[in-house]
Amino acid sequence: MSAVLPTAPTPSPTTASSTEPEAAGPQGQVMRLLRRLRTEADPYPVFDRLRELGPVIPVPALNAAVVTGFQECRHVLRDPAFILPDTAWRDAHADGWRHHRSVVSYAASLPNANPPRHTALRAHLAQGFHRTALAELRPVVTALVHSGLNDLGAALRAHGTADLTEHISRPLPSRVMCKVLSLPDEDAPVLAGLTARWTAAAELFPSEADLDDADAADSALVAYFLRVVQERERCPGRDFLSTWVAAARADGVGIDDIVVHTAQLFVTGFMTVQSSLTSAAYAVLSSPGLTAALRRRPEDMGAAVEEVLRTRPAAAVVGRVATRGCVLAGVPVAAQQRLIVVIPAANRDTRAAATAHLTFGVGVHYCLGAALARLQLGEFLPALLSRFPSLRLADAPVPGDPAPGAPLDPAPMAGIALPHHVRLLTTTARATR
Ligand code: HEM
Repeated sequence: MSAVLPTAPTPSPTTASSTEPEAAGPQGQVMRLLRRLRTEADPYPVFDRLRELGPVIPVPALNAAVVTGFQECRHVLRDPAFILPDTAWRDAHADGWRHHRSVVSYAASLPNANPPRHTALRAHLAQGFHRTALAELRPVVTALVHSGLNDLGAALRAHGTADLTEHISRPLPSRVMCKVLSLPDEDAPVLAGLTARWTAAAELFPSEADLDDADAADSALVAYFLRVVQERERCPGRDFLSTWVAAARADGVGIDDIVVHTAQLFVTGFMTVQSSLTSAAYAVLSSPGLTAALRRRPEDMGAAVEEVLRTRPAAAVVGRVATRGCVLAGVPVAAQQRLIVVIPAANRDTRAAATAHLTFGVGVHYCLGAALARLQLGEFLPALLSRFPSLRLADAPVPGDPAPGAPLDPAPMAGIALPHHVRLLTTTARATR
């Protein structure tokens, strides 16, 4: 998932002073709305406001257009005339962009690659996510879900309340990604912590301080995965990563590239699912009618998961660049102009089919881990409701930056990593087992 990084220093929506002059008209409104995403407990109405400004909104201050309409977003994601801002594009068009190593890693990874490089890389990586691989993962995911729910139950019994993020949303997907890459389970918390610090590199408007921290996290991630990749090359096993390393090396892919792709695979697979697990629990538990209906009709759970994915997509913003001038929904787009594709806005576009969504993208970059994400959500949500029959939200989600050290999901990831996300507390009178 690609953020569209500014080509020149851009005032951060989070840090801009309240006395700073605002651009007038839709551009000013877009900037104000983007700024609000940082502070709203529930950002999704903000995405609706963005869409109300139009399906395509020019933002000259960012040399970009914000795309919010479902059809328009779908078109931009599918049409090869719109490319990812990969390293070659940034070298040609974005002065000084290599200043931060975390941003370089991000730009060099598979989700930011363009064909033909993208095609070959994706073909190799896709091996880890085909049907057989997922069937093998299912019992692992089920066991991890129940082990997380055991911890949640113990915390609820001990304290009356418990943090979903601490017991499920963070450990589950980080441990699942450790299984996918055959990494030691005990490394999951460290990798999860580094990933959380790294995500500023994928934000739309990262601050310098956040990027400095992301760089430190990137160094640690790269050092970790360099050791892993070298080890798999030296002593290959039958695991997915060993197979991928061998295939990529045979294709002439350098070790540094492989390391970046592997680290980014962990980052992407962990952060997005972490956010979605919390969103799913919050969406269901904040609607007692829905909770009761799902308990009565567990067969509706699959549709409920899909609806959460549609209405609360974890990847908020993905980026593209126009390779030639065109007109989108009546708005002229110049060559090399950036497109900020706002997925939550598109998914809630009432002009589109009610269940249609772009949560996993569309076209050649369609999410490689979509089935793995659905697997985790599909195992987690029914188990949560059936094992904790009287589960409630303990309080409202916490807006703004959480207290230092508080467990958090930086949702939604990619483009805009929102630190306000849902910090979900749960309380229960009774838990099964
Ligand atoms: C709910 C969870 C997830 C969401 C919402 C999500 C969303 C997305 C989106 C929107 C894209 C397309 C980006 C674009 O077009 O620029 C994407 C691509 C990608 N996703 Fe996911 N993702 C999720 C989970 C995962 C997981 C679990 C993994 C890996 C284990 C993963 C790996 C990838 C990769 C490697 C790509 C790049 C594919 C390519 O460029 O060919 N994702 N994801």
